[in-house]
Amino acid sequence: MTDISPERGALAVTGLRKTFEAENAPVRALRGVDLTVSPGEFVAVMGPSGCGKSTLLNLVAGLDVPDEGTITVAGEPVTGRTEDELARMRRKHMGIVFQFFNLLEGMTVLENVVLPSVIAGRRRKMAETRARDLLDLLGIGDKASSVPGVLSGGQRQRLAIARALANEPTLLLADEPTGALDSAGGAEIIELLRRLHAGGQTIILVTHDPAVAEAAGRIVRMRDGRVVTSDPASDPAPASASASASASASASAFGSRTI
Ligand SMILES: Nc1ncnc2c1ncn2[C@@H]1O[C@H](COP(=O)(O)OP(=O)(O)OP(=O)(O)O)[C@@H](O)[C@H]1O
Ligand SMILES: [Mg+2]
Repeated sequence: MTDISPERGALAVTGLRKTFEAENAPVRALRGVDLTVSPGEFVAVMGPSGCGKSTLLNLVAGLDVPDEGTITVAGEPVTGRTEDELARMRRKHMGIVFQFFNLLEGMTVLENVVLPSVIAGRRRKMAETRARDLLDLLGIGDKASSVPGVLSGGQRQRLAIARALANEPTLLLADEPTGALDSAGGAEIIELLRRLHAGGQTIILVTHDPAVAEAAGRIVRMRDGRVVTSDPASDPAPASASASASASASASAFGSRTI
């Protein structure tokens, strides 16, 4: 069941605090963060280096545990879960794109996208069909049997995004997805994110790049572990993202090839 009602929202974060024990003094990375993201929204998180952006994303993804506060994704709590439950939540709800791709270099491009779905319990044939669709739509269908090592930076980033979308995630979480790319590669990714957003995909993206943030409907600015402004959407979530807006919106958009 991946449908989420707008009332429940795609993401609700309240009172999030996280302190890291460092050598000299503890680092208060998050000092009380509240954030709500509606289904279909595309939110860019910006702020100076060290202000807590990646920490926030990692906590939302259940990759680390907050000291205080709650996180709910599609109405399901992320906080207070066991490791196994968190792994299940991630497979069901999260597509995560890291700055340095984390691709499986010994496997083909196709296998990189098939594997998450198979792990999540999808039949291999279905997983392969969706993986080929995603690769086609992201413009790297002809590289399906190559290994990631032969791809350009932009192609590798698109592969990382294809893999994150394999399980039709409620949330696409991306930490500086254009950070390692030149401007042409960055522009390709921006265009891709715009198309995903238009297809109803909920996106939360950390970026330093104003050109990337411009593609988002809302910019959340952080400083010293807090959200300082959350500019209202100049470009509200697409109509397709209301009512039954959901993780499956992106799937149907892919299915009908409208992204
Ligand atoms: N595992 C950790 N152990 C100790 N300190 C950490 C850890 N992870 C993050 N920090 C510290 O927490 C603060 C917030 O880090 P975070 O990675 O969230 O910043 P950021 O906003 O993503 O920065 P950047 O834009 O440079 O990626 C920083 O001071 C960082 O040094
Ligand atoms: Mg970071």
